[in-house]
Amino acid sequence: MYKLTDRIILVTGAGDGIGRAAAKTFAENGATVILLGRTIKKLESVYDEIEQAGHPQAAIYPIDLEGATAHDYEQLANTLDKEFGRLDGLLHNAAILGTLTPLELYDINQWYKVMQINLNAPFLLTKACLNLMKRSSDASIIFTSSDVSKQGKAYWGAYSVSKFAIEGMMQILADELESNTKIRVNSINPGDVRTAMWAAAYPAKDTNTVPPPEKIMSQYLYLMTSDINGKALNAQD
Ligand SMILES: NC(=O)c1ccc[n+]([C@@H]2O[C@H](COP(=O)([O-])OP(=O)(O)OC[C@H]3O[C@@H](n4cnc5c(N)ncnc54)[C@H](OP(=O)(O)O)[C@@H]3O)[C@@H](O)[C@H]2O)c1
Repeated sequence: MYKLTDRIILVTGAGDGIGRAAAKTFAENGATVILLGRTIKKLESVYDEIEQAGHPQAAIYPIDLEGATAHDYEQLANTLDKEFGRLDGLLHNAAILGTLTPLELYDINQWYKVMQINLNAPFLLTKACLNLMKRSSDASIIFTSSDVSKQGKAYWGAYSVSKFAIEGMMQILADELESNTKIRVNSINPGDVRTAMWAAAYPAKDTNTVPPPEKIMSQYLYLMTSDINGKALNAQD
């Protein structure tokens, strides 16, 4: 249904959870997927699954978004340029939950870590990749938001603040790129999904009550292929 043949798509946090499912789904629909993440073993296992299924050969790019600098993102963009010459899709999916703590007690180093991975990394990665995406005939950037990205809720701390900011960044970028590029920028809120992050956020709840990542992929495919811009979608609507 969704044609991603010959599309080059980068997925962050591709080794686990929603990112893993998204990478496999994009590959299943014909895309060449660049698997970015910090745990090489997990990335290799996604790579192998894509290969065994006979989908286009993926690529692995290990990077720790916590420590990566602007220079590291430039290096990544240079590598993509050499290998592919352009980038058609960018799914910003990697994130950490941090702790669920009142702001008054929130650990300062933890605050910086969450902001670095959830907000600064997507900014730096986007900035480094924009030239490559301008070379695509039809490019899509997807930011990942959350239920706590529009209405603040006690104890969700840095995670929630980072997701509010992600929505803002999406809107700014969508507005800036709309008239003079072929790059569309949107966000997606996965809703409750059966992953390690969800289990950490709701330790007392039964993970079987929420869908696995594979069940929420249609809006991800839709955003990779449709021509909408500047919208915040819910994956489970
Ligand atoms: N699950 C839900 O119910 C839910 C709800 C709303 C929003 N979301 C959002 O959906 C996205 C995916 O969440 P998820 O539930 O799939 O989480 P997850 O299972 O915890 O997976 C997160 C992914 O991000 C990667 N990652 C974390 N820190 C990283 C770092 N420093 N450098 C590189 N990669 C890093 C992880 O790599 P490792 O595996 O190597 O650690 C993992 O692949 C996140 O943006 C999250 O905020 C999820």
